[in-house]
Amino acid sequence: MFSAGKRIIITGASSGIGFATAFRFAQYAGELILISRNQDRGETARKIIQTQYPNTPVHVLTADLSSPVSIKELVKQINTRWHSVDVLVNNAGGIFFQRFESIDGLEYTFSLNHMGYFRLAIKLLPLLEAAGAARIINVSSVLHRLAPLDFSDLQHSVQPYRGFFAYGRSKLANILFTRELAKRTDPRIIQAASLHPGFIQSNFASNPAGSLSGHIFQILSLVFGSSPVVGSAAVAFLAESPHIEHGGYYSNNSLSIPSKYARDEAAAQRLWDISMELA
Ligand SMILES: NC(=O)c1ccc[n+]([C@@H]2O[C@H](COP(=O)([O-])OP(=O)(O)OC[C@H]3O[C@@H](n4cnc5c(N)ncnc54)[C@H](OP(=O)(O)O)[C@@H]3O)[C@@H](O)[C@H]2O)c1
Repeated sequence: MFSAGKRIIITGASSGIGFATAFRFAQYAGELILISRNQDRGETARKIIQTQYPNTPVHVLTADLSSPVSIKELVKQINTRWHSVDVLVNNAGGIFFQRFESIDGLEYTFSLNHMGYFRLAIKLLPLLEAAGAARIINVSSVLHRLAPLDFSDLQHSVQPYRGFFAYGRSKLANILFTRELAKRTDPRIIQAASLHPGFIQSNFASNPAGSLSGHIFQILSLVFGSSPVVGSAAVAFLAESPHIEHGGYYSNNSLSIPSKYARDEAAAQRLWDISMELA
């Protein structure tokens, strides 16, 4: 198993798929670093995990992954404490049914779901490279199929804002980022892949910018969604498998073909350049 005995960072580890994944990793990981935006929720997650797996070191670091300042501080703390990281799971995300902005003026879904993944992975590349053979796992969604990226309105500030489309585009960005990252990294040192975890019972529509659509979405997810344990198995598949496709998109634990928009190499490169400028 690739990730046995390894140092693993997982974002959004306080609930849902992230917590279930951390709980699973704790069975065999060398060390777990849970990233939570809320210290108390992170500590609660840590205590539950350590009750079951007292011998696995589990640390909690807090960060608001929609904030470049907070990510910078997080990376500083990680760099101070560790010299290498074997697996990074970018999982923290949400769907927002009203438009609002992150502290650096980006549309919030784009900022959290895409720039959060991008910033953290890019800033942690030296530590991942130091591991010798590392993995970056980006939790995307089948909803990436909803629409292409609109480079003339990446921040959804011109066209009327629609939460599902903003979300779908951010999850498309996760796949484009993963594919472009794969082109720019040596697979002997870093392997990156993205995945759809399934339709999972979740809190991710229950944010302060909630709306009727958010409540309906959450009820549907509670009634029809699978347990977060199912989503965690999909994430863990990419951490545990001895071989994964560098840049691949996975669904149902197998390599899958993402939408044609996700296979657009020019879009991947353009998104990379814009993200790098923003970062
Ligand atoms: N659920 C599904 O059906 C589904 C399907 C496809 C893809 N996904 C993807 O799966 C991932 C996890 O979603 P989930 O369903 O497990 O939802 P969830 O239960 O709401 O978990 C989301 C996690 O992200 C954290 N988070 C939210 N905003 C943050 C911020 N600004 N800074 C740092 N952390 C933040 C949350 O922290 P708090 O505990 O503080 O809220 C929580 O731990 C997301 O990327 C989502 O797009 C989910």
